[in-house]
Amino acid sequence: MSHGTVESDHAGEDTRTALVTGILGMDGSHLADLLLRKGYTVYGLARRSSRESTSNIAHLEGHPRFTILAGDLTDQNSLIRALKVSGPDEIYNLAAQSFVGESWNTPEYTGNVTGLGVLRMLEAVREHGAPVRFYQASSSEMFGKMVRNPCDEDTPFYPRSPYGVAKLYGHWITKNYRESYGMFTVSGILFNHESERRGIEFVTRKITRAVAMIHAGLADHVALGNLDAKRDWGYAPDYVEAMWMMLQPDEPRDYVVATGETRSVRDFLGAAFSMIDVEDWTPFVRIDPRFFRPAEVDVLRGDASRIERDLGWRPGTPFEEWVRRMVKHDIEEIG
Ligand code: NAP
Ligand code: GDD
Repeated sequence: MSHGTVESDHAGEDTRTALVTGILGMDGSHLADLLLRKGYTVYGLARRSSRESTSNIAHLEGHPRFTILAGDLTDQNSLIRALKVSGPDEIYNLAAQSFVGESWNTPEYTGNVTGLGVLRMLEAVREHGAPVRFYQASSSEMFGKMVRNPCDEDTPFYPRSPYGVAKLYGHWITKNYRESYGMFTVSGILFNHESERRGIEFVTRKITRAVAMIHAGLADHVALGNLDAKRDWGYAPDYVEAMWMMLQPDEPRDYVVATGETRSVRDFLGAAFSMIDVEDWTPFVRIDPRFFRPAEVDVLRGDASRIERDLGWRPGTPFEEWVRRMVKHDIEEIG
């Protein structure tokens, strides 16, 4: 885990309040853990329809400084109410239709939640009136067909999916509200990050669960799409630290958050299967055309030197270590 210079100023005794949208997701739950450790009061926004998938925050049930509020990024009034009830100092807007593959099936819905949802949050902040610091979860998918390698904050965008296009809207509207209204709004352009709490549709978790199933004798293969795709993968608990750090300086600024390393899905398979002492994973993988996308982001790699220089953030957990944690977690869960 990285330790920025700002951390020591607030560690332990913080009395601030944060509102986190997407609280039931991977990042939302890790961020809630971090903020509660720092002493924040945390309100998490969740859709009523999602009350069944609360496993990521089950350990926070009954925490005296943690409250779930009902709300939806497609319902403006619910957002205004959430701000009224929580009275936050900081807002982390993490809610989104976040699965790139699904965004071709539901492009309009993805645009509404992942794009326009950001506008609704910003309007709710304006309506609320009180000074609030706002974090938007921007994405390396906005770089898509990378025009420069590695990508930094000045690299032009070239999204390759309805999800990437929707995120680009969220990114620019966040910047526009900063410039139009002087609001403290920042975007973190985060490259892929994973953890034991990752949704099972994403490739890393799909693989680590399959490895655990194969290890337990409950499956004999995993069906995947493009094994040549390359991603700059990091560990989510490190990345939520970067989100928090971005809201601490006096001046708002956007940052790229990445490891600077890129690996293919094949590399990930090698690392995950090696955790159960399987060197040749090829007999356990079948290629299924259903998992190919209409347009692919072939490779992503980020340059996070600005956030390291300004805020002291660095990715802390090595690749092999977090892959080991994911496989171990899934073996225990399945066992
Ligand atoms: P995630 O696990 O999919 O979490 C997203 C959360 O948003 C889910 O809990 C989901 O609720 C909620 N949500 C979806 N639609 C909503 C709506 N209409 N109203 C309110 N909540 C809604 O995603 P994540 O990996 O934690 O990512 C967090 C954010 O960072 C997302 O915005 C994602 O696009 C972005 N991002 C992620 C990465 C990455 O590699 N993880 C990288 C860059 C950017 P349900 O539980 O009800 O579905
Ligand atoms: N999901 C999935 N399932 N992906 C597969 C599969 C499969 O069976 N087989 C190959 N892949 C490839 C995809 O084609 C893609 O190139 C790569 O694995 C990673 O896919 P995902 O894990 O679904 O993540 P993503 O890169 O598309 O999107 C994630 O990262 C973005 C940041 O770059 C999500 O977390 C987004 O919300 C996030 O913005």
